[in-house]
Order: sequence, then structure tokens, then C-alpha cells
Amino acid sequence: MILGPDEEMLDAWAAGLSADSLVVARPLPSQLLTALQQRALQVSYKAAHVGRAQRRLAPEVRSDAIAWVTANHGVDAQWLTWLDALQLGLNRRLFLGLTHHESHYAFYPPGARYQRHRDAFAADGYSNRIVSLVLYLNETWSDTAGGELVVYGDSKGDAEPLKRLAPLPGRLVLFLSADLPHEVLPAQQNRYSLAAWFRGSSAN
Ligand code: OGA
Ligand code: MN
Repeated sequence: MILGPDEEMLDAWAAGLSADSLVVARPLPSQLLTALQQRALQVSYKAAHVGRAQRRLAPEVRSDAIAWVTANHGVDAQWLTWLDALQLGLNRRLFLGLTHHESHYAFYPPGARYQRHRDAFAADGYSNRIVSLVLYLNETWSDTAGGELVVYGDSKGDAEPLKRLAPLPGRLVLFLSADLPHEVLPAQQNRYSLAAWFRGSSAN
């Protein structure tokens, strides 16, 4: 029975988010990971939008396709339960006041990208995404396949990225949504992932 990340993982992730705003891990039991990898190949994807007030297609900014997760399918329900446990574990440790989350599968065909962006802005009363999550569902990933998640520090300039993270099978990245601008580089092969955002009612 898979419920969520264990206490030790949660301790380490809470410490990592506090210290660096970013955590990289590989936490999923192989049974759940395999089921999610298979599911990612079955869901129906639709072109992703950008913007909040005016949602629009903007393939020059973002050319992935997404499928929202609902509890209607066995493994999707398991994933949402895993996210519930993560939300509770983070709240207990960091007092973030996370109240709910949402999650979607994302599929980037070869050449697709997502330009540098933030998932939330500080003092944004509308979009109160507090913690962002990405879980990579690729079965394999080669060194030359591209598709890295490039994470920048808070500065606006062209400083060197903080991290370049290949979308390795089962890799999980957690970060504070308003803190870290990031982008997805084009890949040579199909790129599958799950993204999730934990929201709180208290936008600062
Ligand atoms: C996003 C995003 C990163 C990734 O969906 O907002 O930044 O590596 N995804 O897929
Ligand atoms: Mn993002």
C-alpha cells in the first residue's frame, strides 16, 4: 500500500526547500513509478495554454501538451493521494498553509520547449502557487537527448543557471514557485512528466 513519502524524506525535503528553495530526489516506489509511466502513454493530451487572465496558445513560449489528473483512474488516484501526503508533510514542517494541489501530465514531443518563466509571483493575490513539483516519467534518457530543466537563481540577469536537470526516469524536483525562474530545453526524444502545484490561501 503506497500512501506517500516517508517521514525521513519529508524531513530532508523540508530542510532542502528552506535552505535552497529546491530539492531533487528519486522517491517513488518502482511499482507506482511504472504504473505512472504507463499511464503517461495512455492519457489524451491537449495543447497547453499560457497566461492567467487571458489563457492563450503560445507555442513559441510553451509547446508541450497536457492532461489534468483526476481521481477517476486507479493510478491517478494513487498519485493524488501521494500528493496529499506530501502536502500534509510539508505543512507540518514548514507551516506553508498549503490548502490544495493540482497536477497534470505533460508531453513534450521532440523540439518542444517551455521558455524561461516563473510558476508564481510574490505578492500575487490571484495565483497563489507556493510549491511546484515535477516528476519525470521517461523510461530512459540519454546524455545527449537534451530536454533539461534549467533552474535560475532569483536574479534577473543572465547569470549562470543554478542547475541543469536531465529528466531522468523517476527524478522528482520540488521548488518554491515564486523563487526560481526556470525553463525546459527542447529534447531529441519524447519527454513525459507529471507536474503539480500546491496552493495556499495566503498570498503574501
Ligand atoms: C511547468 C514546468 C518543468 C519541466 O510545467 O511549469 O516548468 O521540467 N515544467 O517539465
Ligand atoms: Mn514551470
